[in-house]
Amino acid sequence: MNHTAAFSQGRSVFRCPVCEKPLRCEDGHLACADGHSFDISKQGYVNLAFKTKGSADHYDKASFQNRHQILEAGYYSHLAEELIRILEKLPHVVTVLDAGCGEGYYARALRSRLQKQVIACDLSRDSIQMAAKNDSGFIQWFVGDSARLPIRSHSINCVLDIFAPANYGEFRRVMTRDGYIIKVIPGNGHLKEFRQLAKEQLRRQDYSNQQVIDYFTKHFDLVERKLVSKTWEMPPVHREIFADMTPLLFHIDRRDIDLSQTRTLTVEGEILVGRPLDGDAPTEKTHKSAKRKTHKPALHK
Ligand SMILES: C[S@@+](CC[C@H](N)C(=O)[O-])C[C@H]1O[C@@H](n2cnc3c(N)ncnc32)[C@H](O)[C@@H]1O
Repeated sequence: MNHTAAFSQGRSVFRCPVCEKPLRCEDGHLACADGHSFDISKQGYVNLAFKTKGSADHYDKASFQNRHQILEAGYYSHLAEELIRILEKLPHVVTVLDAGCGEGYYARALRSRLQKQVIACDLSRDSIQMAAKNDSGFIQWFVGDSARLPIRSHSINCVLDIFAPANYGEFRRVMTRDGYIIKVIPGNGHLKEFRQLAKEQLRRQDYSNQQVIDYFTKHFDLVERKLVSKTWEMPPVHREIFADMTPLLFHIDRRDIDLSQTRTLTVEGEILVGRPLDGDAPTEKTHKSAKRKTHKPALHK
């Protein structure tokens, strides 16, 4: 498949990061009526970041390569399977945006199993380059900031935010009124073995995701919540790579922890499925209900 193929498929959901006019795919680039034009690279991604930034803090090329190895080894496959299960129950979801997609594991997994138009972005060009290289031209990859998405308002049926920073105001703007947000956050038991090993160095020894959940429910109607957890036997080489890639240990001197003290590692995510508080009534009946309130979406990081 040629490198521009993904951008010619489905509805164009992109808008110009400069003038906000719709972008269309023509002759190997995305262009707006005002003449702003963005090349689709030969790897199959487009840079729509308002200002070109290298990488988000701590996320360099090596960290994405590590992440890629761990994800491809299957240690997060139970999370990917659950996300597929949730999306399978939502047939009216046609367009899915993976915001902060990293090296693209989840976007690829969803696109290979579901008939959906998958669009995926990350602030880091290194990650998007890697993501596009590992795809055969099915996903619309772009470099972009979740806080300022080059996406038309109300054009996305489902925003995915997997272990990545959220901007609920912006997510709400791009979501259709009957759309969904699926957010994955670390479960309280996520990497509990590493947490135990690094307990002297970590500011908080126990982790609670309650604040994140409370903040989510201020902005969205929580229709499903699922804890997905698996404890893996992990060979030493994978434990090392995992320790290098996890934000949990970004600020820890690795010489202070002895990874040989654990043979297992728990990978635990909490999946939150939300709908706009002021959106249309749900079309599926598979959800726990929550009272709808009127609200104004607030921007946050
Ligand atoms: C922990 S990684 C998660 C990546 C991927 N979702 C996964 O689970 O493998 C967080 C990602 O968020 C990205 N990120 C950070 N700030 C961002 C922003 N403002 N807009 C888009 N992506 C951002 C980082 O570059 C990084 O790839």
